[in-house]
Amino acid sequence: MDKVEQDIYILGIESSCDETAAAVVKNGREVLSNIISSQIVIHRKFGGVVPEIASRKHIEHIIPVIHEALKRAGVTLKQIDGIAVTYGPGLVGALLVGLAAAKALAWALDKPLLGVNHLEGHVFANFINDPSLEPPFLALVVSGGHTSLMKVTGYNSFELLGQTRDDAAGEAFDKIARVMGLPYPGGPEIEKLALEGNPQAISFPRAMLEDEPLAFSFSGMKSSVINYLHNEKQAGRPVNKADVAASFQEAMTDVLVQKTILALKGTGLKEVVLAGGVSANKYLQHKLDLAAEQAGARLVHPRPILCTDNAVMIACRGYYMFLHHSYSAMTLNADPALKLG
Ligand code: KG4
Ligand code: ZN
Repeated sequence: MDKVEQDIYILGIESSCDETAAAVVKNGREVLSNIISSQIVIHRKFGGVVPEIASRKHIEHIIPVIHEALKRAGVTLKQIDGIAVTYGPGLVGALLVGLAAAKALAWALDKPLLGVNHLEGHVFANFINDPSLEPPFLALVVSGGHTSLMKVTGYNSFELLGQTRDDAAGEAFDKIARVMGLPYPGGPEIEKLALEGNPQAISFPRAMLEDEPLAFSFSGMKSSVINYLHNEKQAGRPVNKADVAASFQEAMTDVLVQKTILALKGTGLKEVVLAGGVSANKYLQHKLDLAAEQAGARLVHPRPILCTDNAVMIACRGYYMFLHHSYSAMTLNADPALKLG
């Protein structure tokens, strides 16, 4: 990594899903502002994110959110050294709004454009929390669209170890919550309900995938929970929703923890970071913390505000790209299916 001789200010912009966010981060790790305009309340009526509505709301909010981020940071546009923006993965129409704003700023200010992979951004949220964290380490990325284990070998190098073959962890939380009549997003609702339930009440299947032990599959677990709810209803038996929530969360946590420990042992790494929206789950944090400690490793996870989508993590990722001179061309396009690593 290059030596930093003067303070570097990165403006981060994030609009991949239903949060319009902007942030200013100094020297990669000092948060000067973190503005998030969430559309959750709007999409909740529909039980999930409506892409058309998300794009329109991003257009309305992007400029005020950027202005607010600069104002709160006490930094002018002229002081900004680089513009970091999420260009994928995510909803294409949503991504394009942030990307267009970032390109316009980078062009007008003649400053580098730094196109950030949203999933790498989630991993980098951990650098904000833990100033001592340095690669190499293992990362478990669990969001609404992705579930992956990866080795972060350097600030700009990643190695994918395994990913989900079907549903993402957050997607399973959201779909099960929806069938249970809980509001969107389902993850926090299931976590809350599970506090009153018995995690051992129902045994839901855990796909361990012996042919590819670091890959994930949650569709069987999700279907099993949904079938259970359906069958109990058909039979006219009352369902204890808290037990279902707790047992599902237990099965999900069990798989995530077992595979993470396997990856720690396989790679010999001694640090693991949690990343993505599902990393806000306290039960998962607790279980993984215990298991990592038993395996002689340390868990790092972001503070709650940096678990779900935000622009601080994008600015942090962009900072290391800036130091590495990994600038993006003005022809950079949104890539809704951008891969990790
Ligand atoms: O990273 P994120 O904000 O957006 C994507 O990049 O996908 O992740 C959103 C996902 C949703 O599926 C949401 O239900 C889940 O993260 N989530 C949680 C919790 N908070 C958010 N899942 C389980 N427990 C939580 N506390
Ligand atoms: Zn995300």
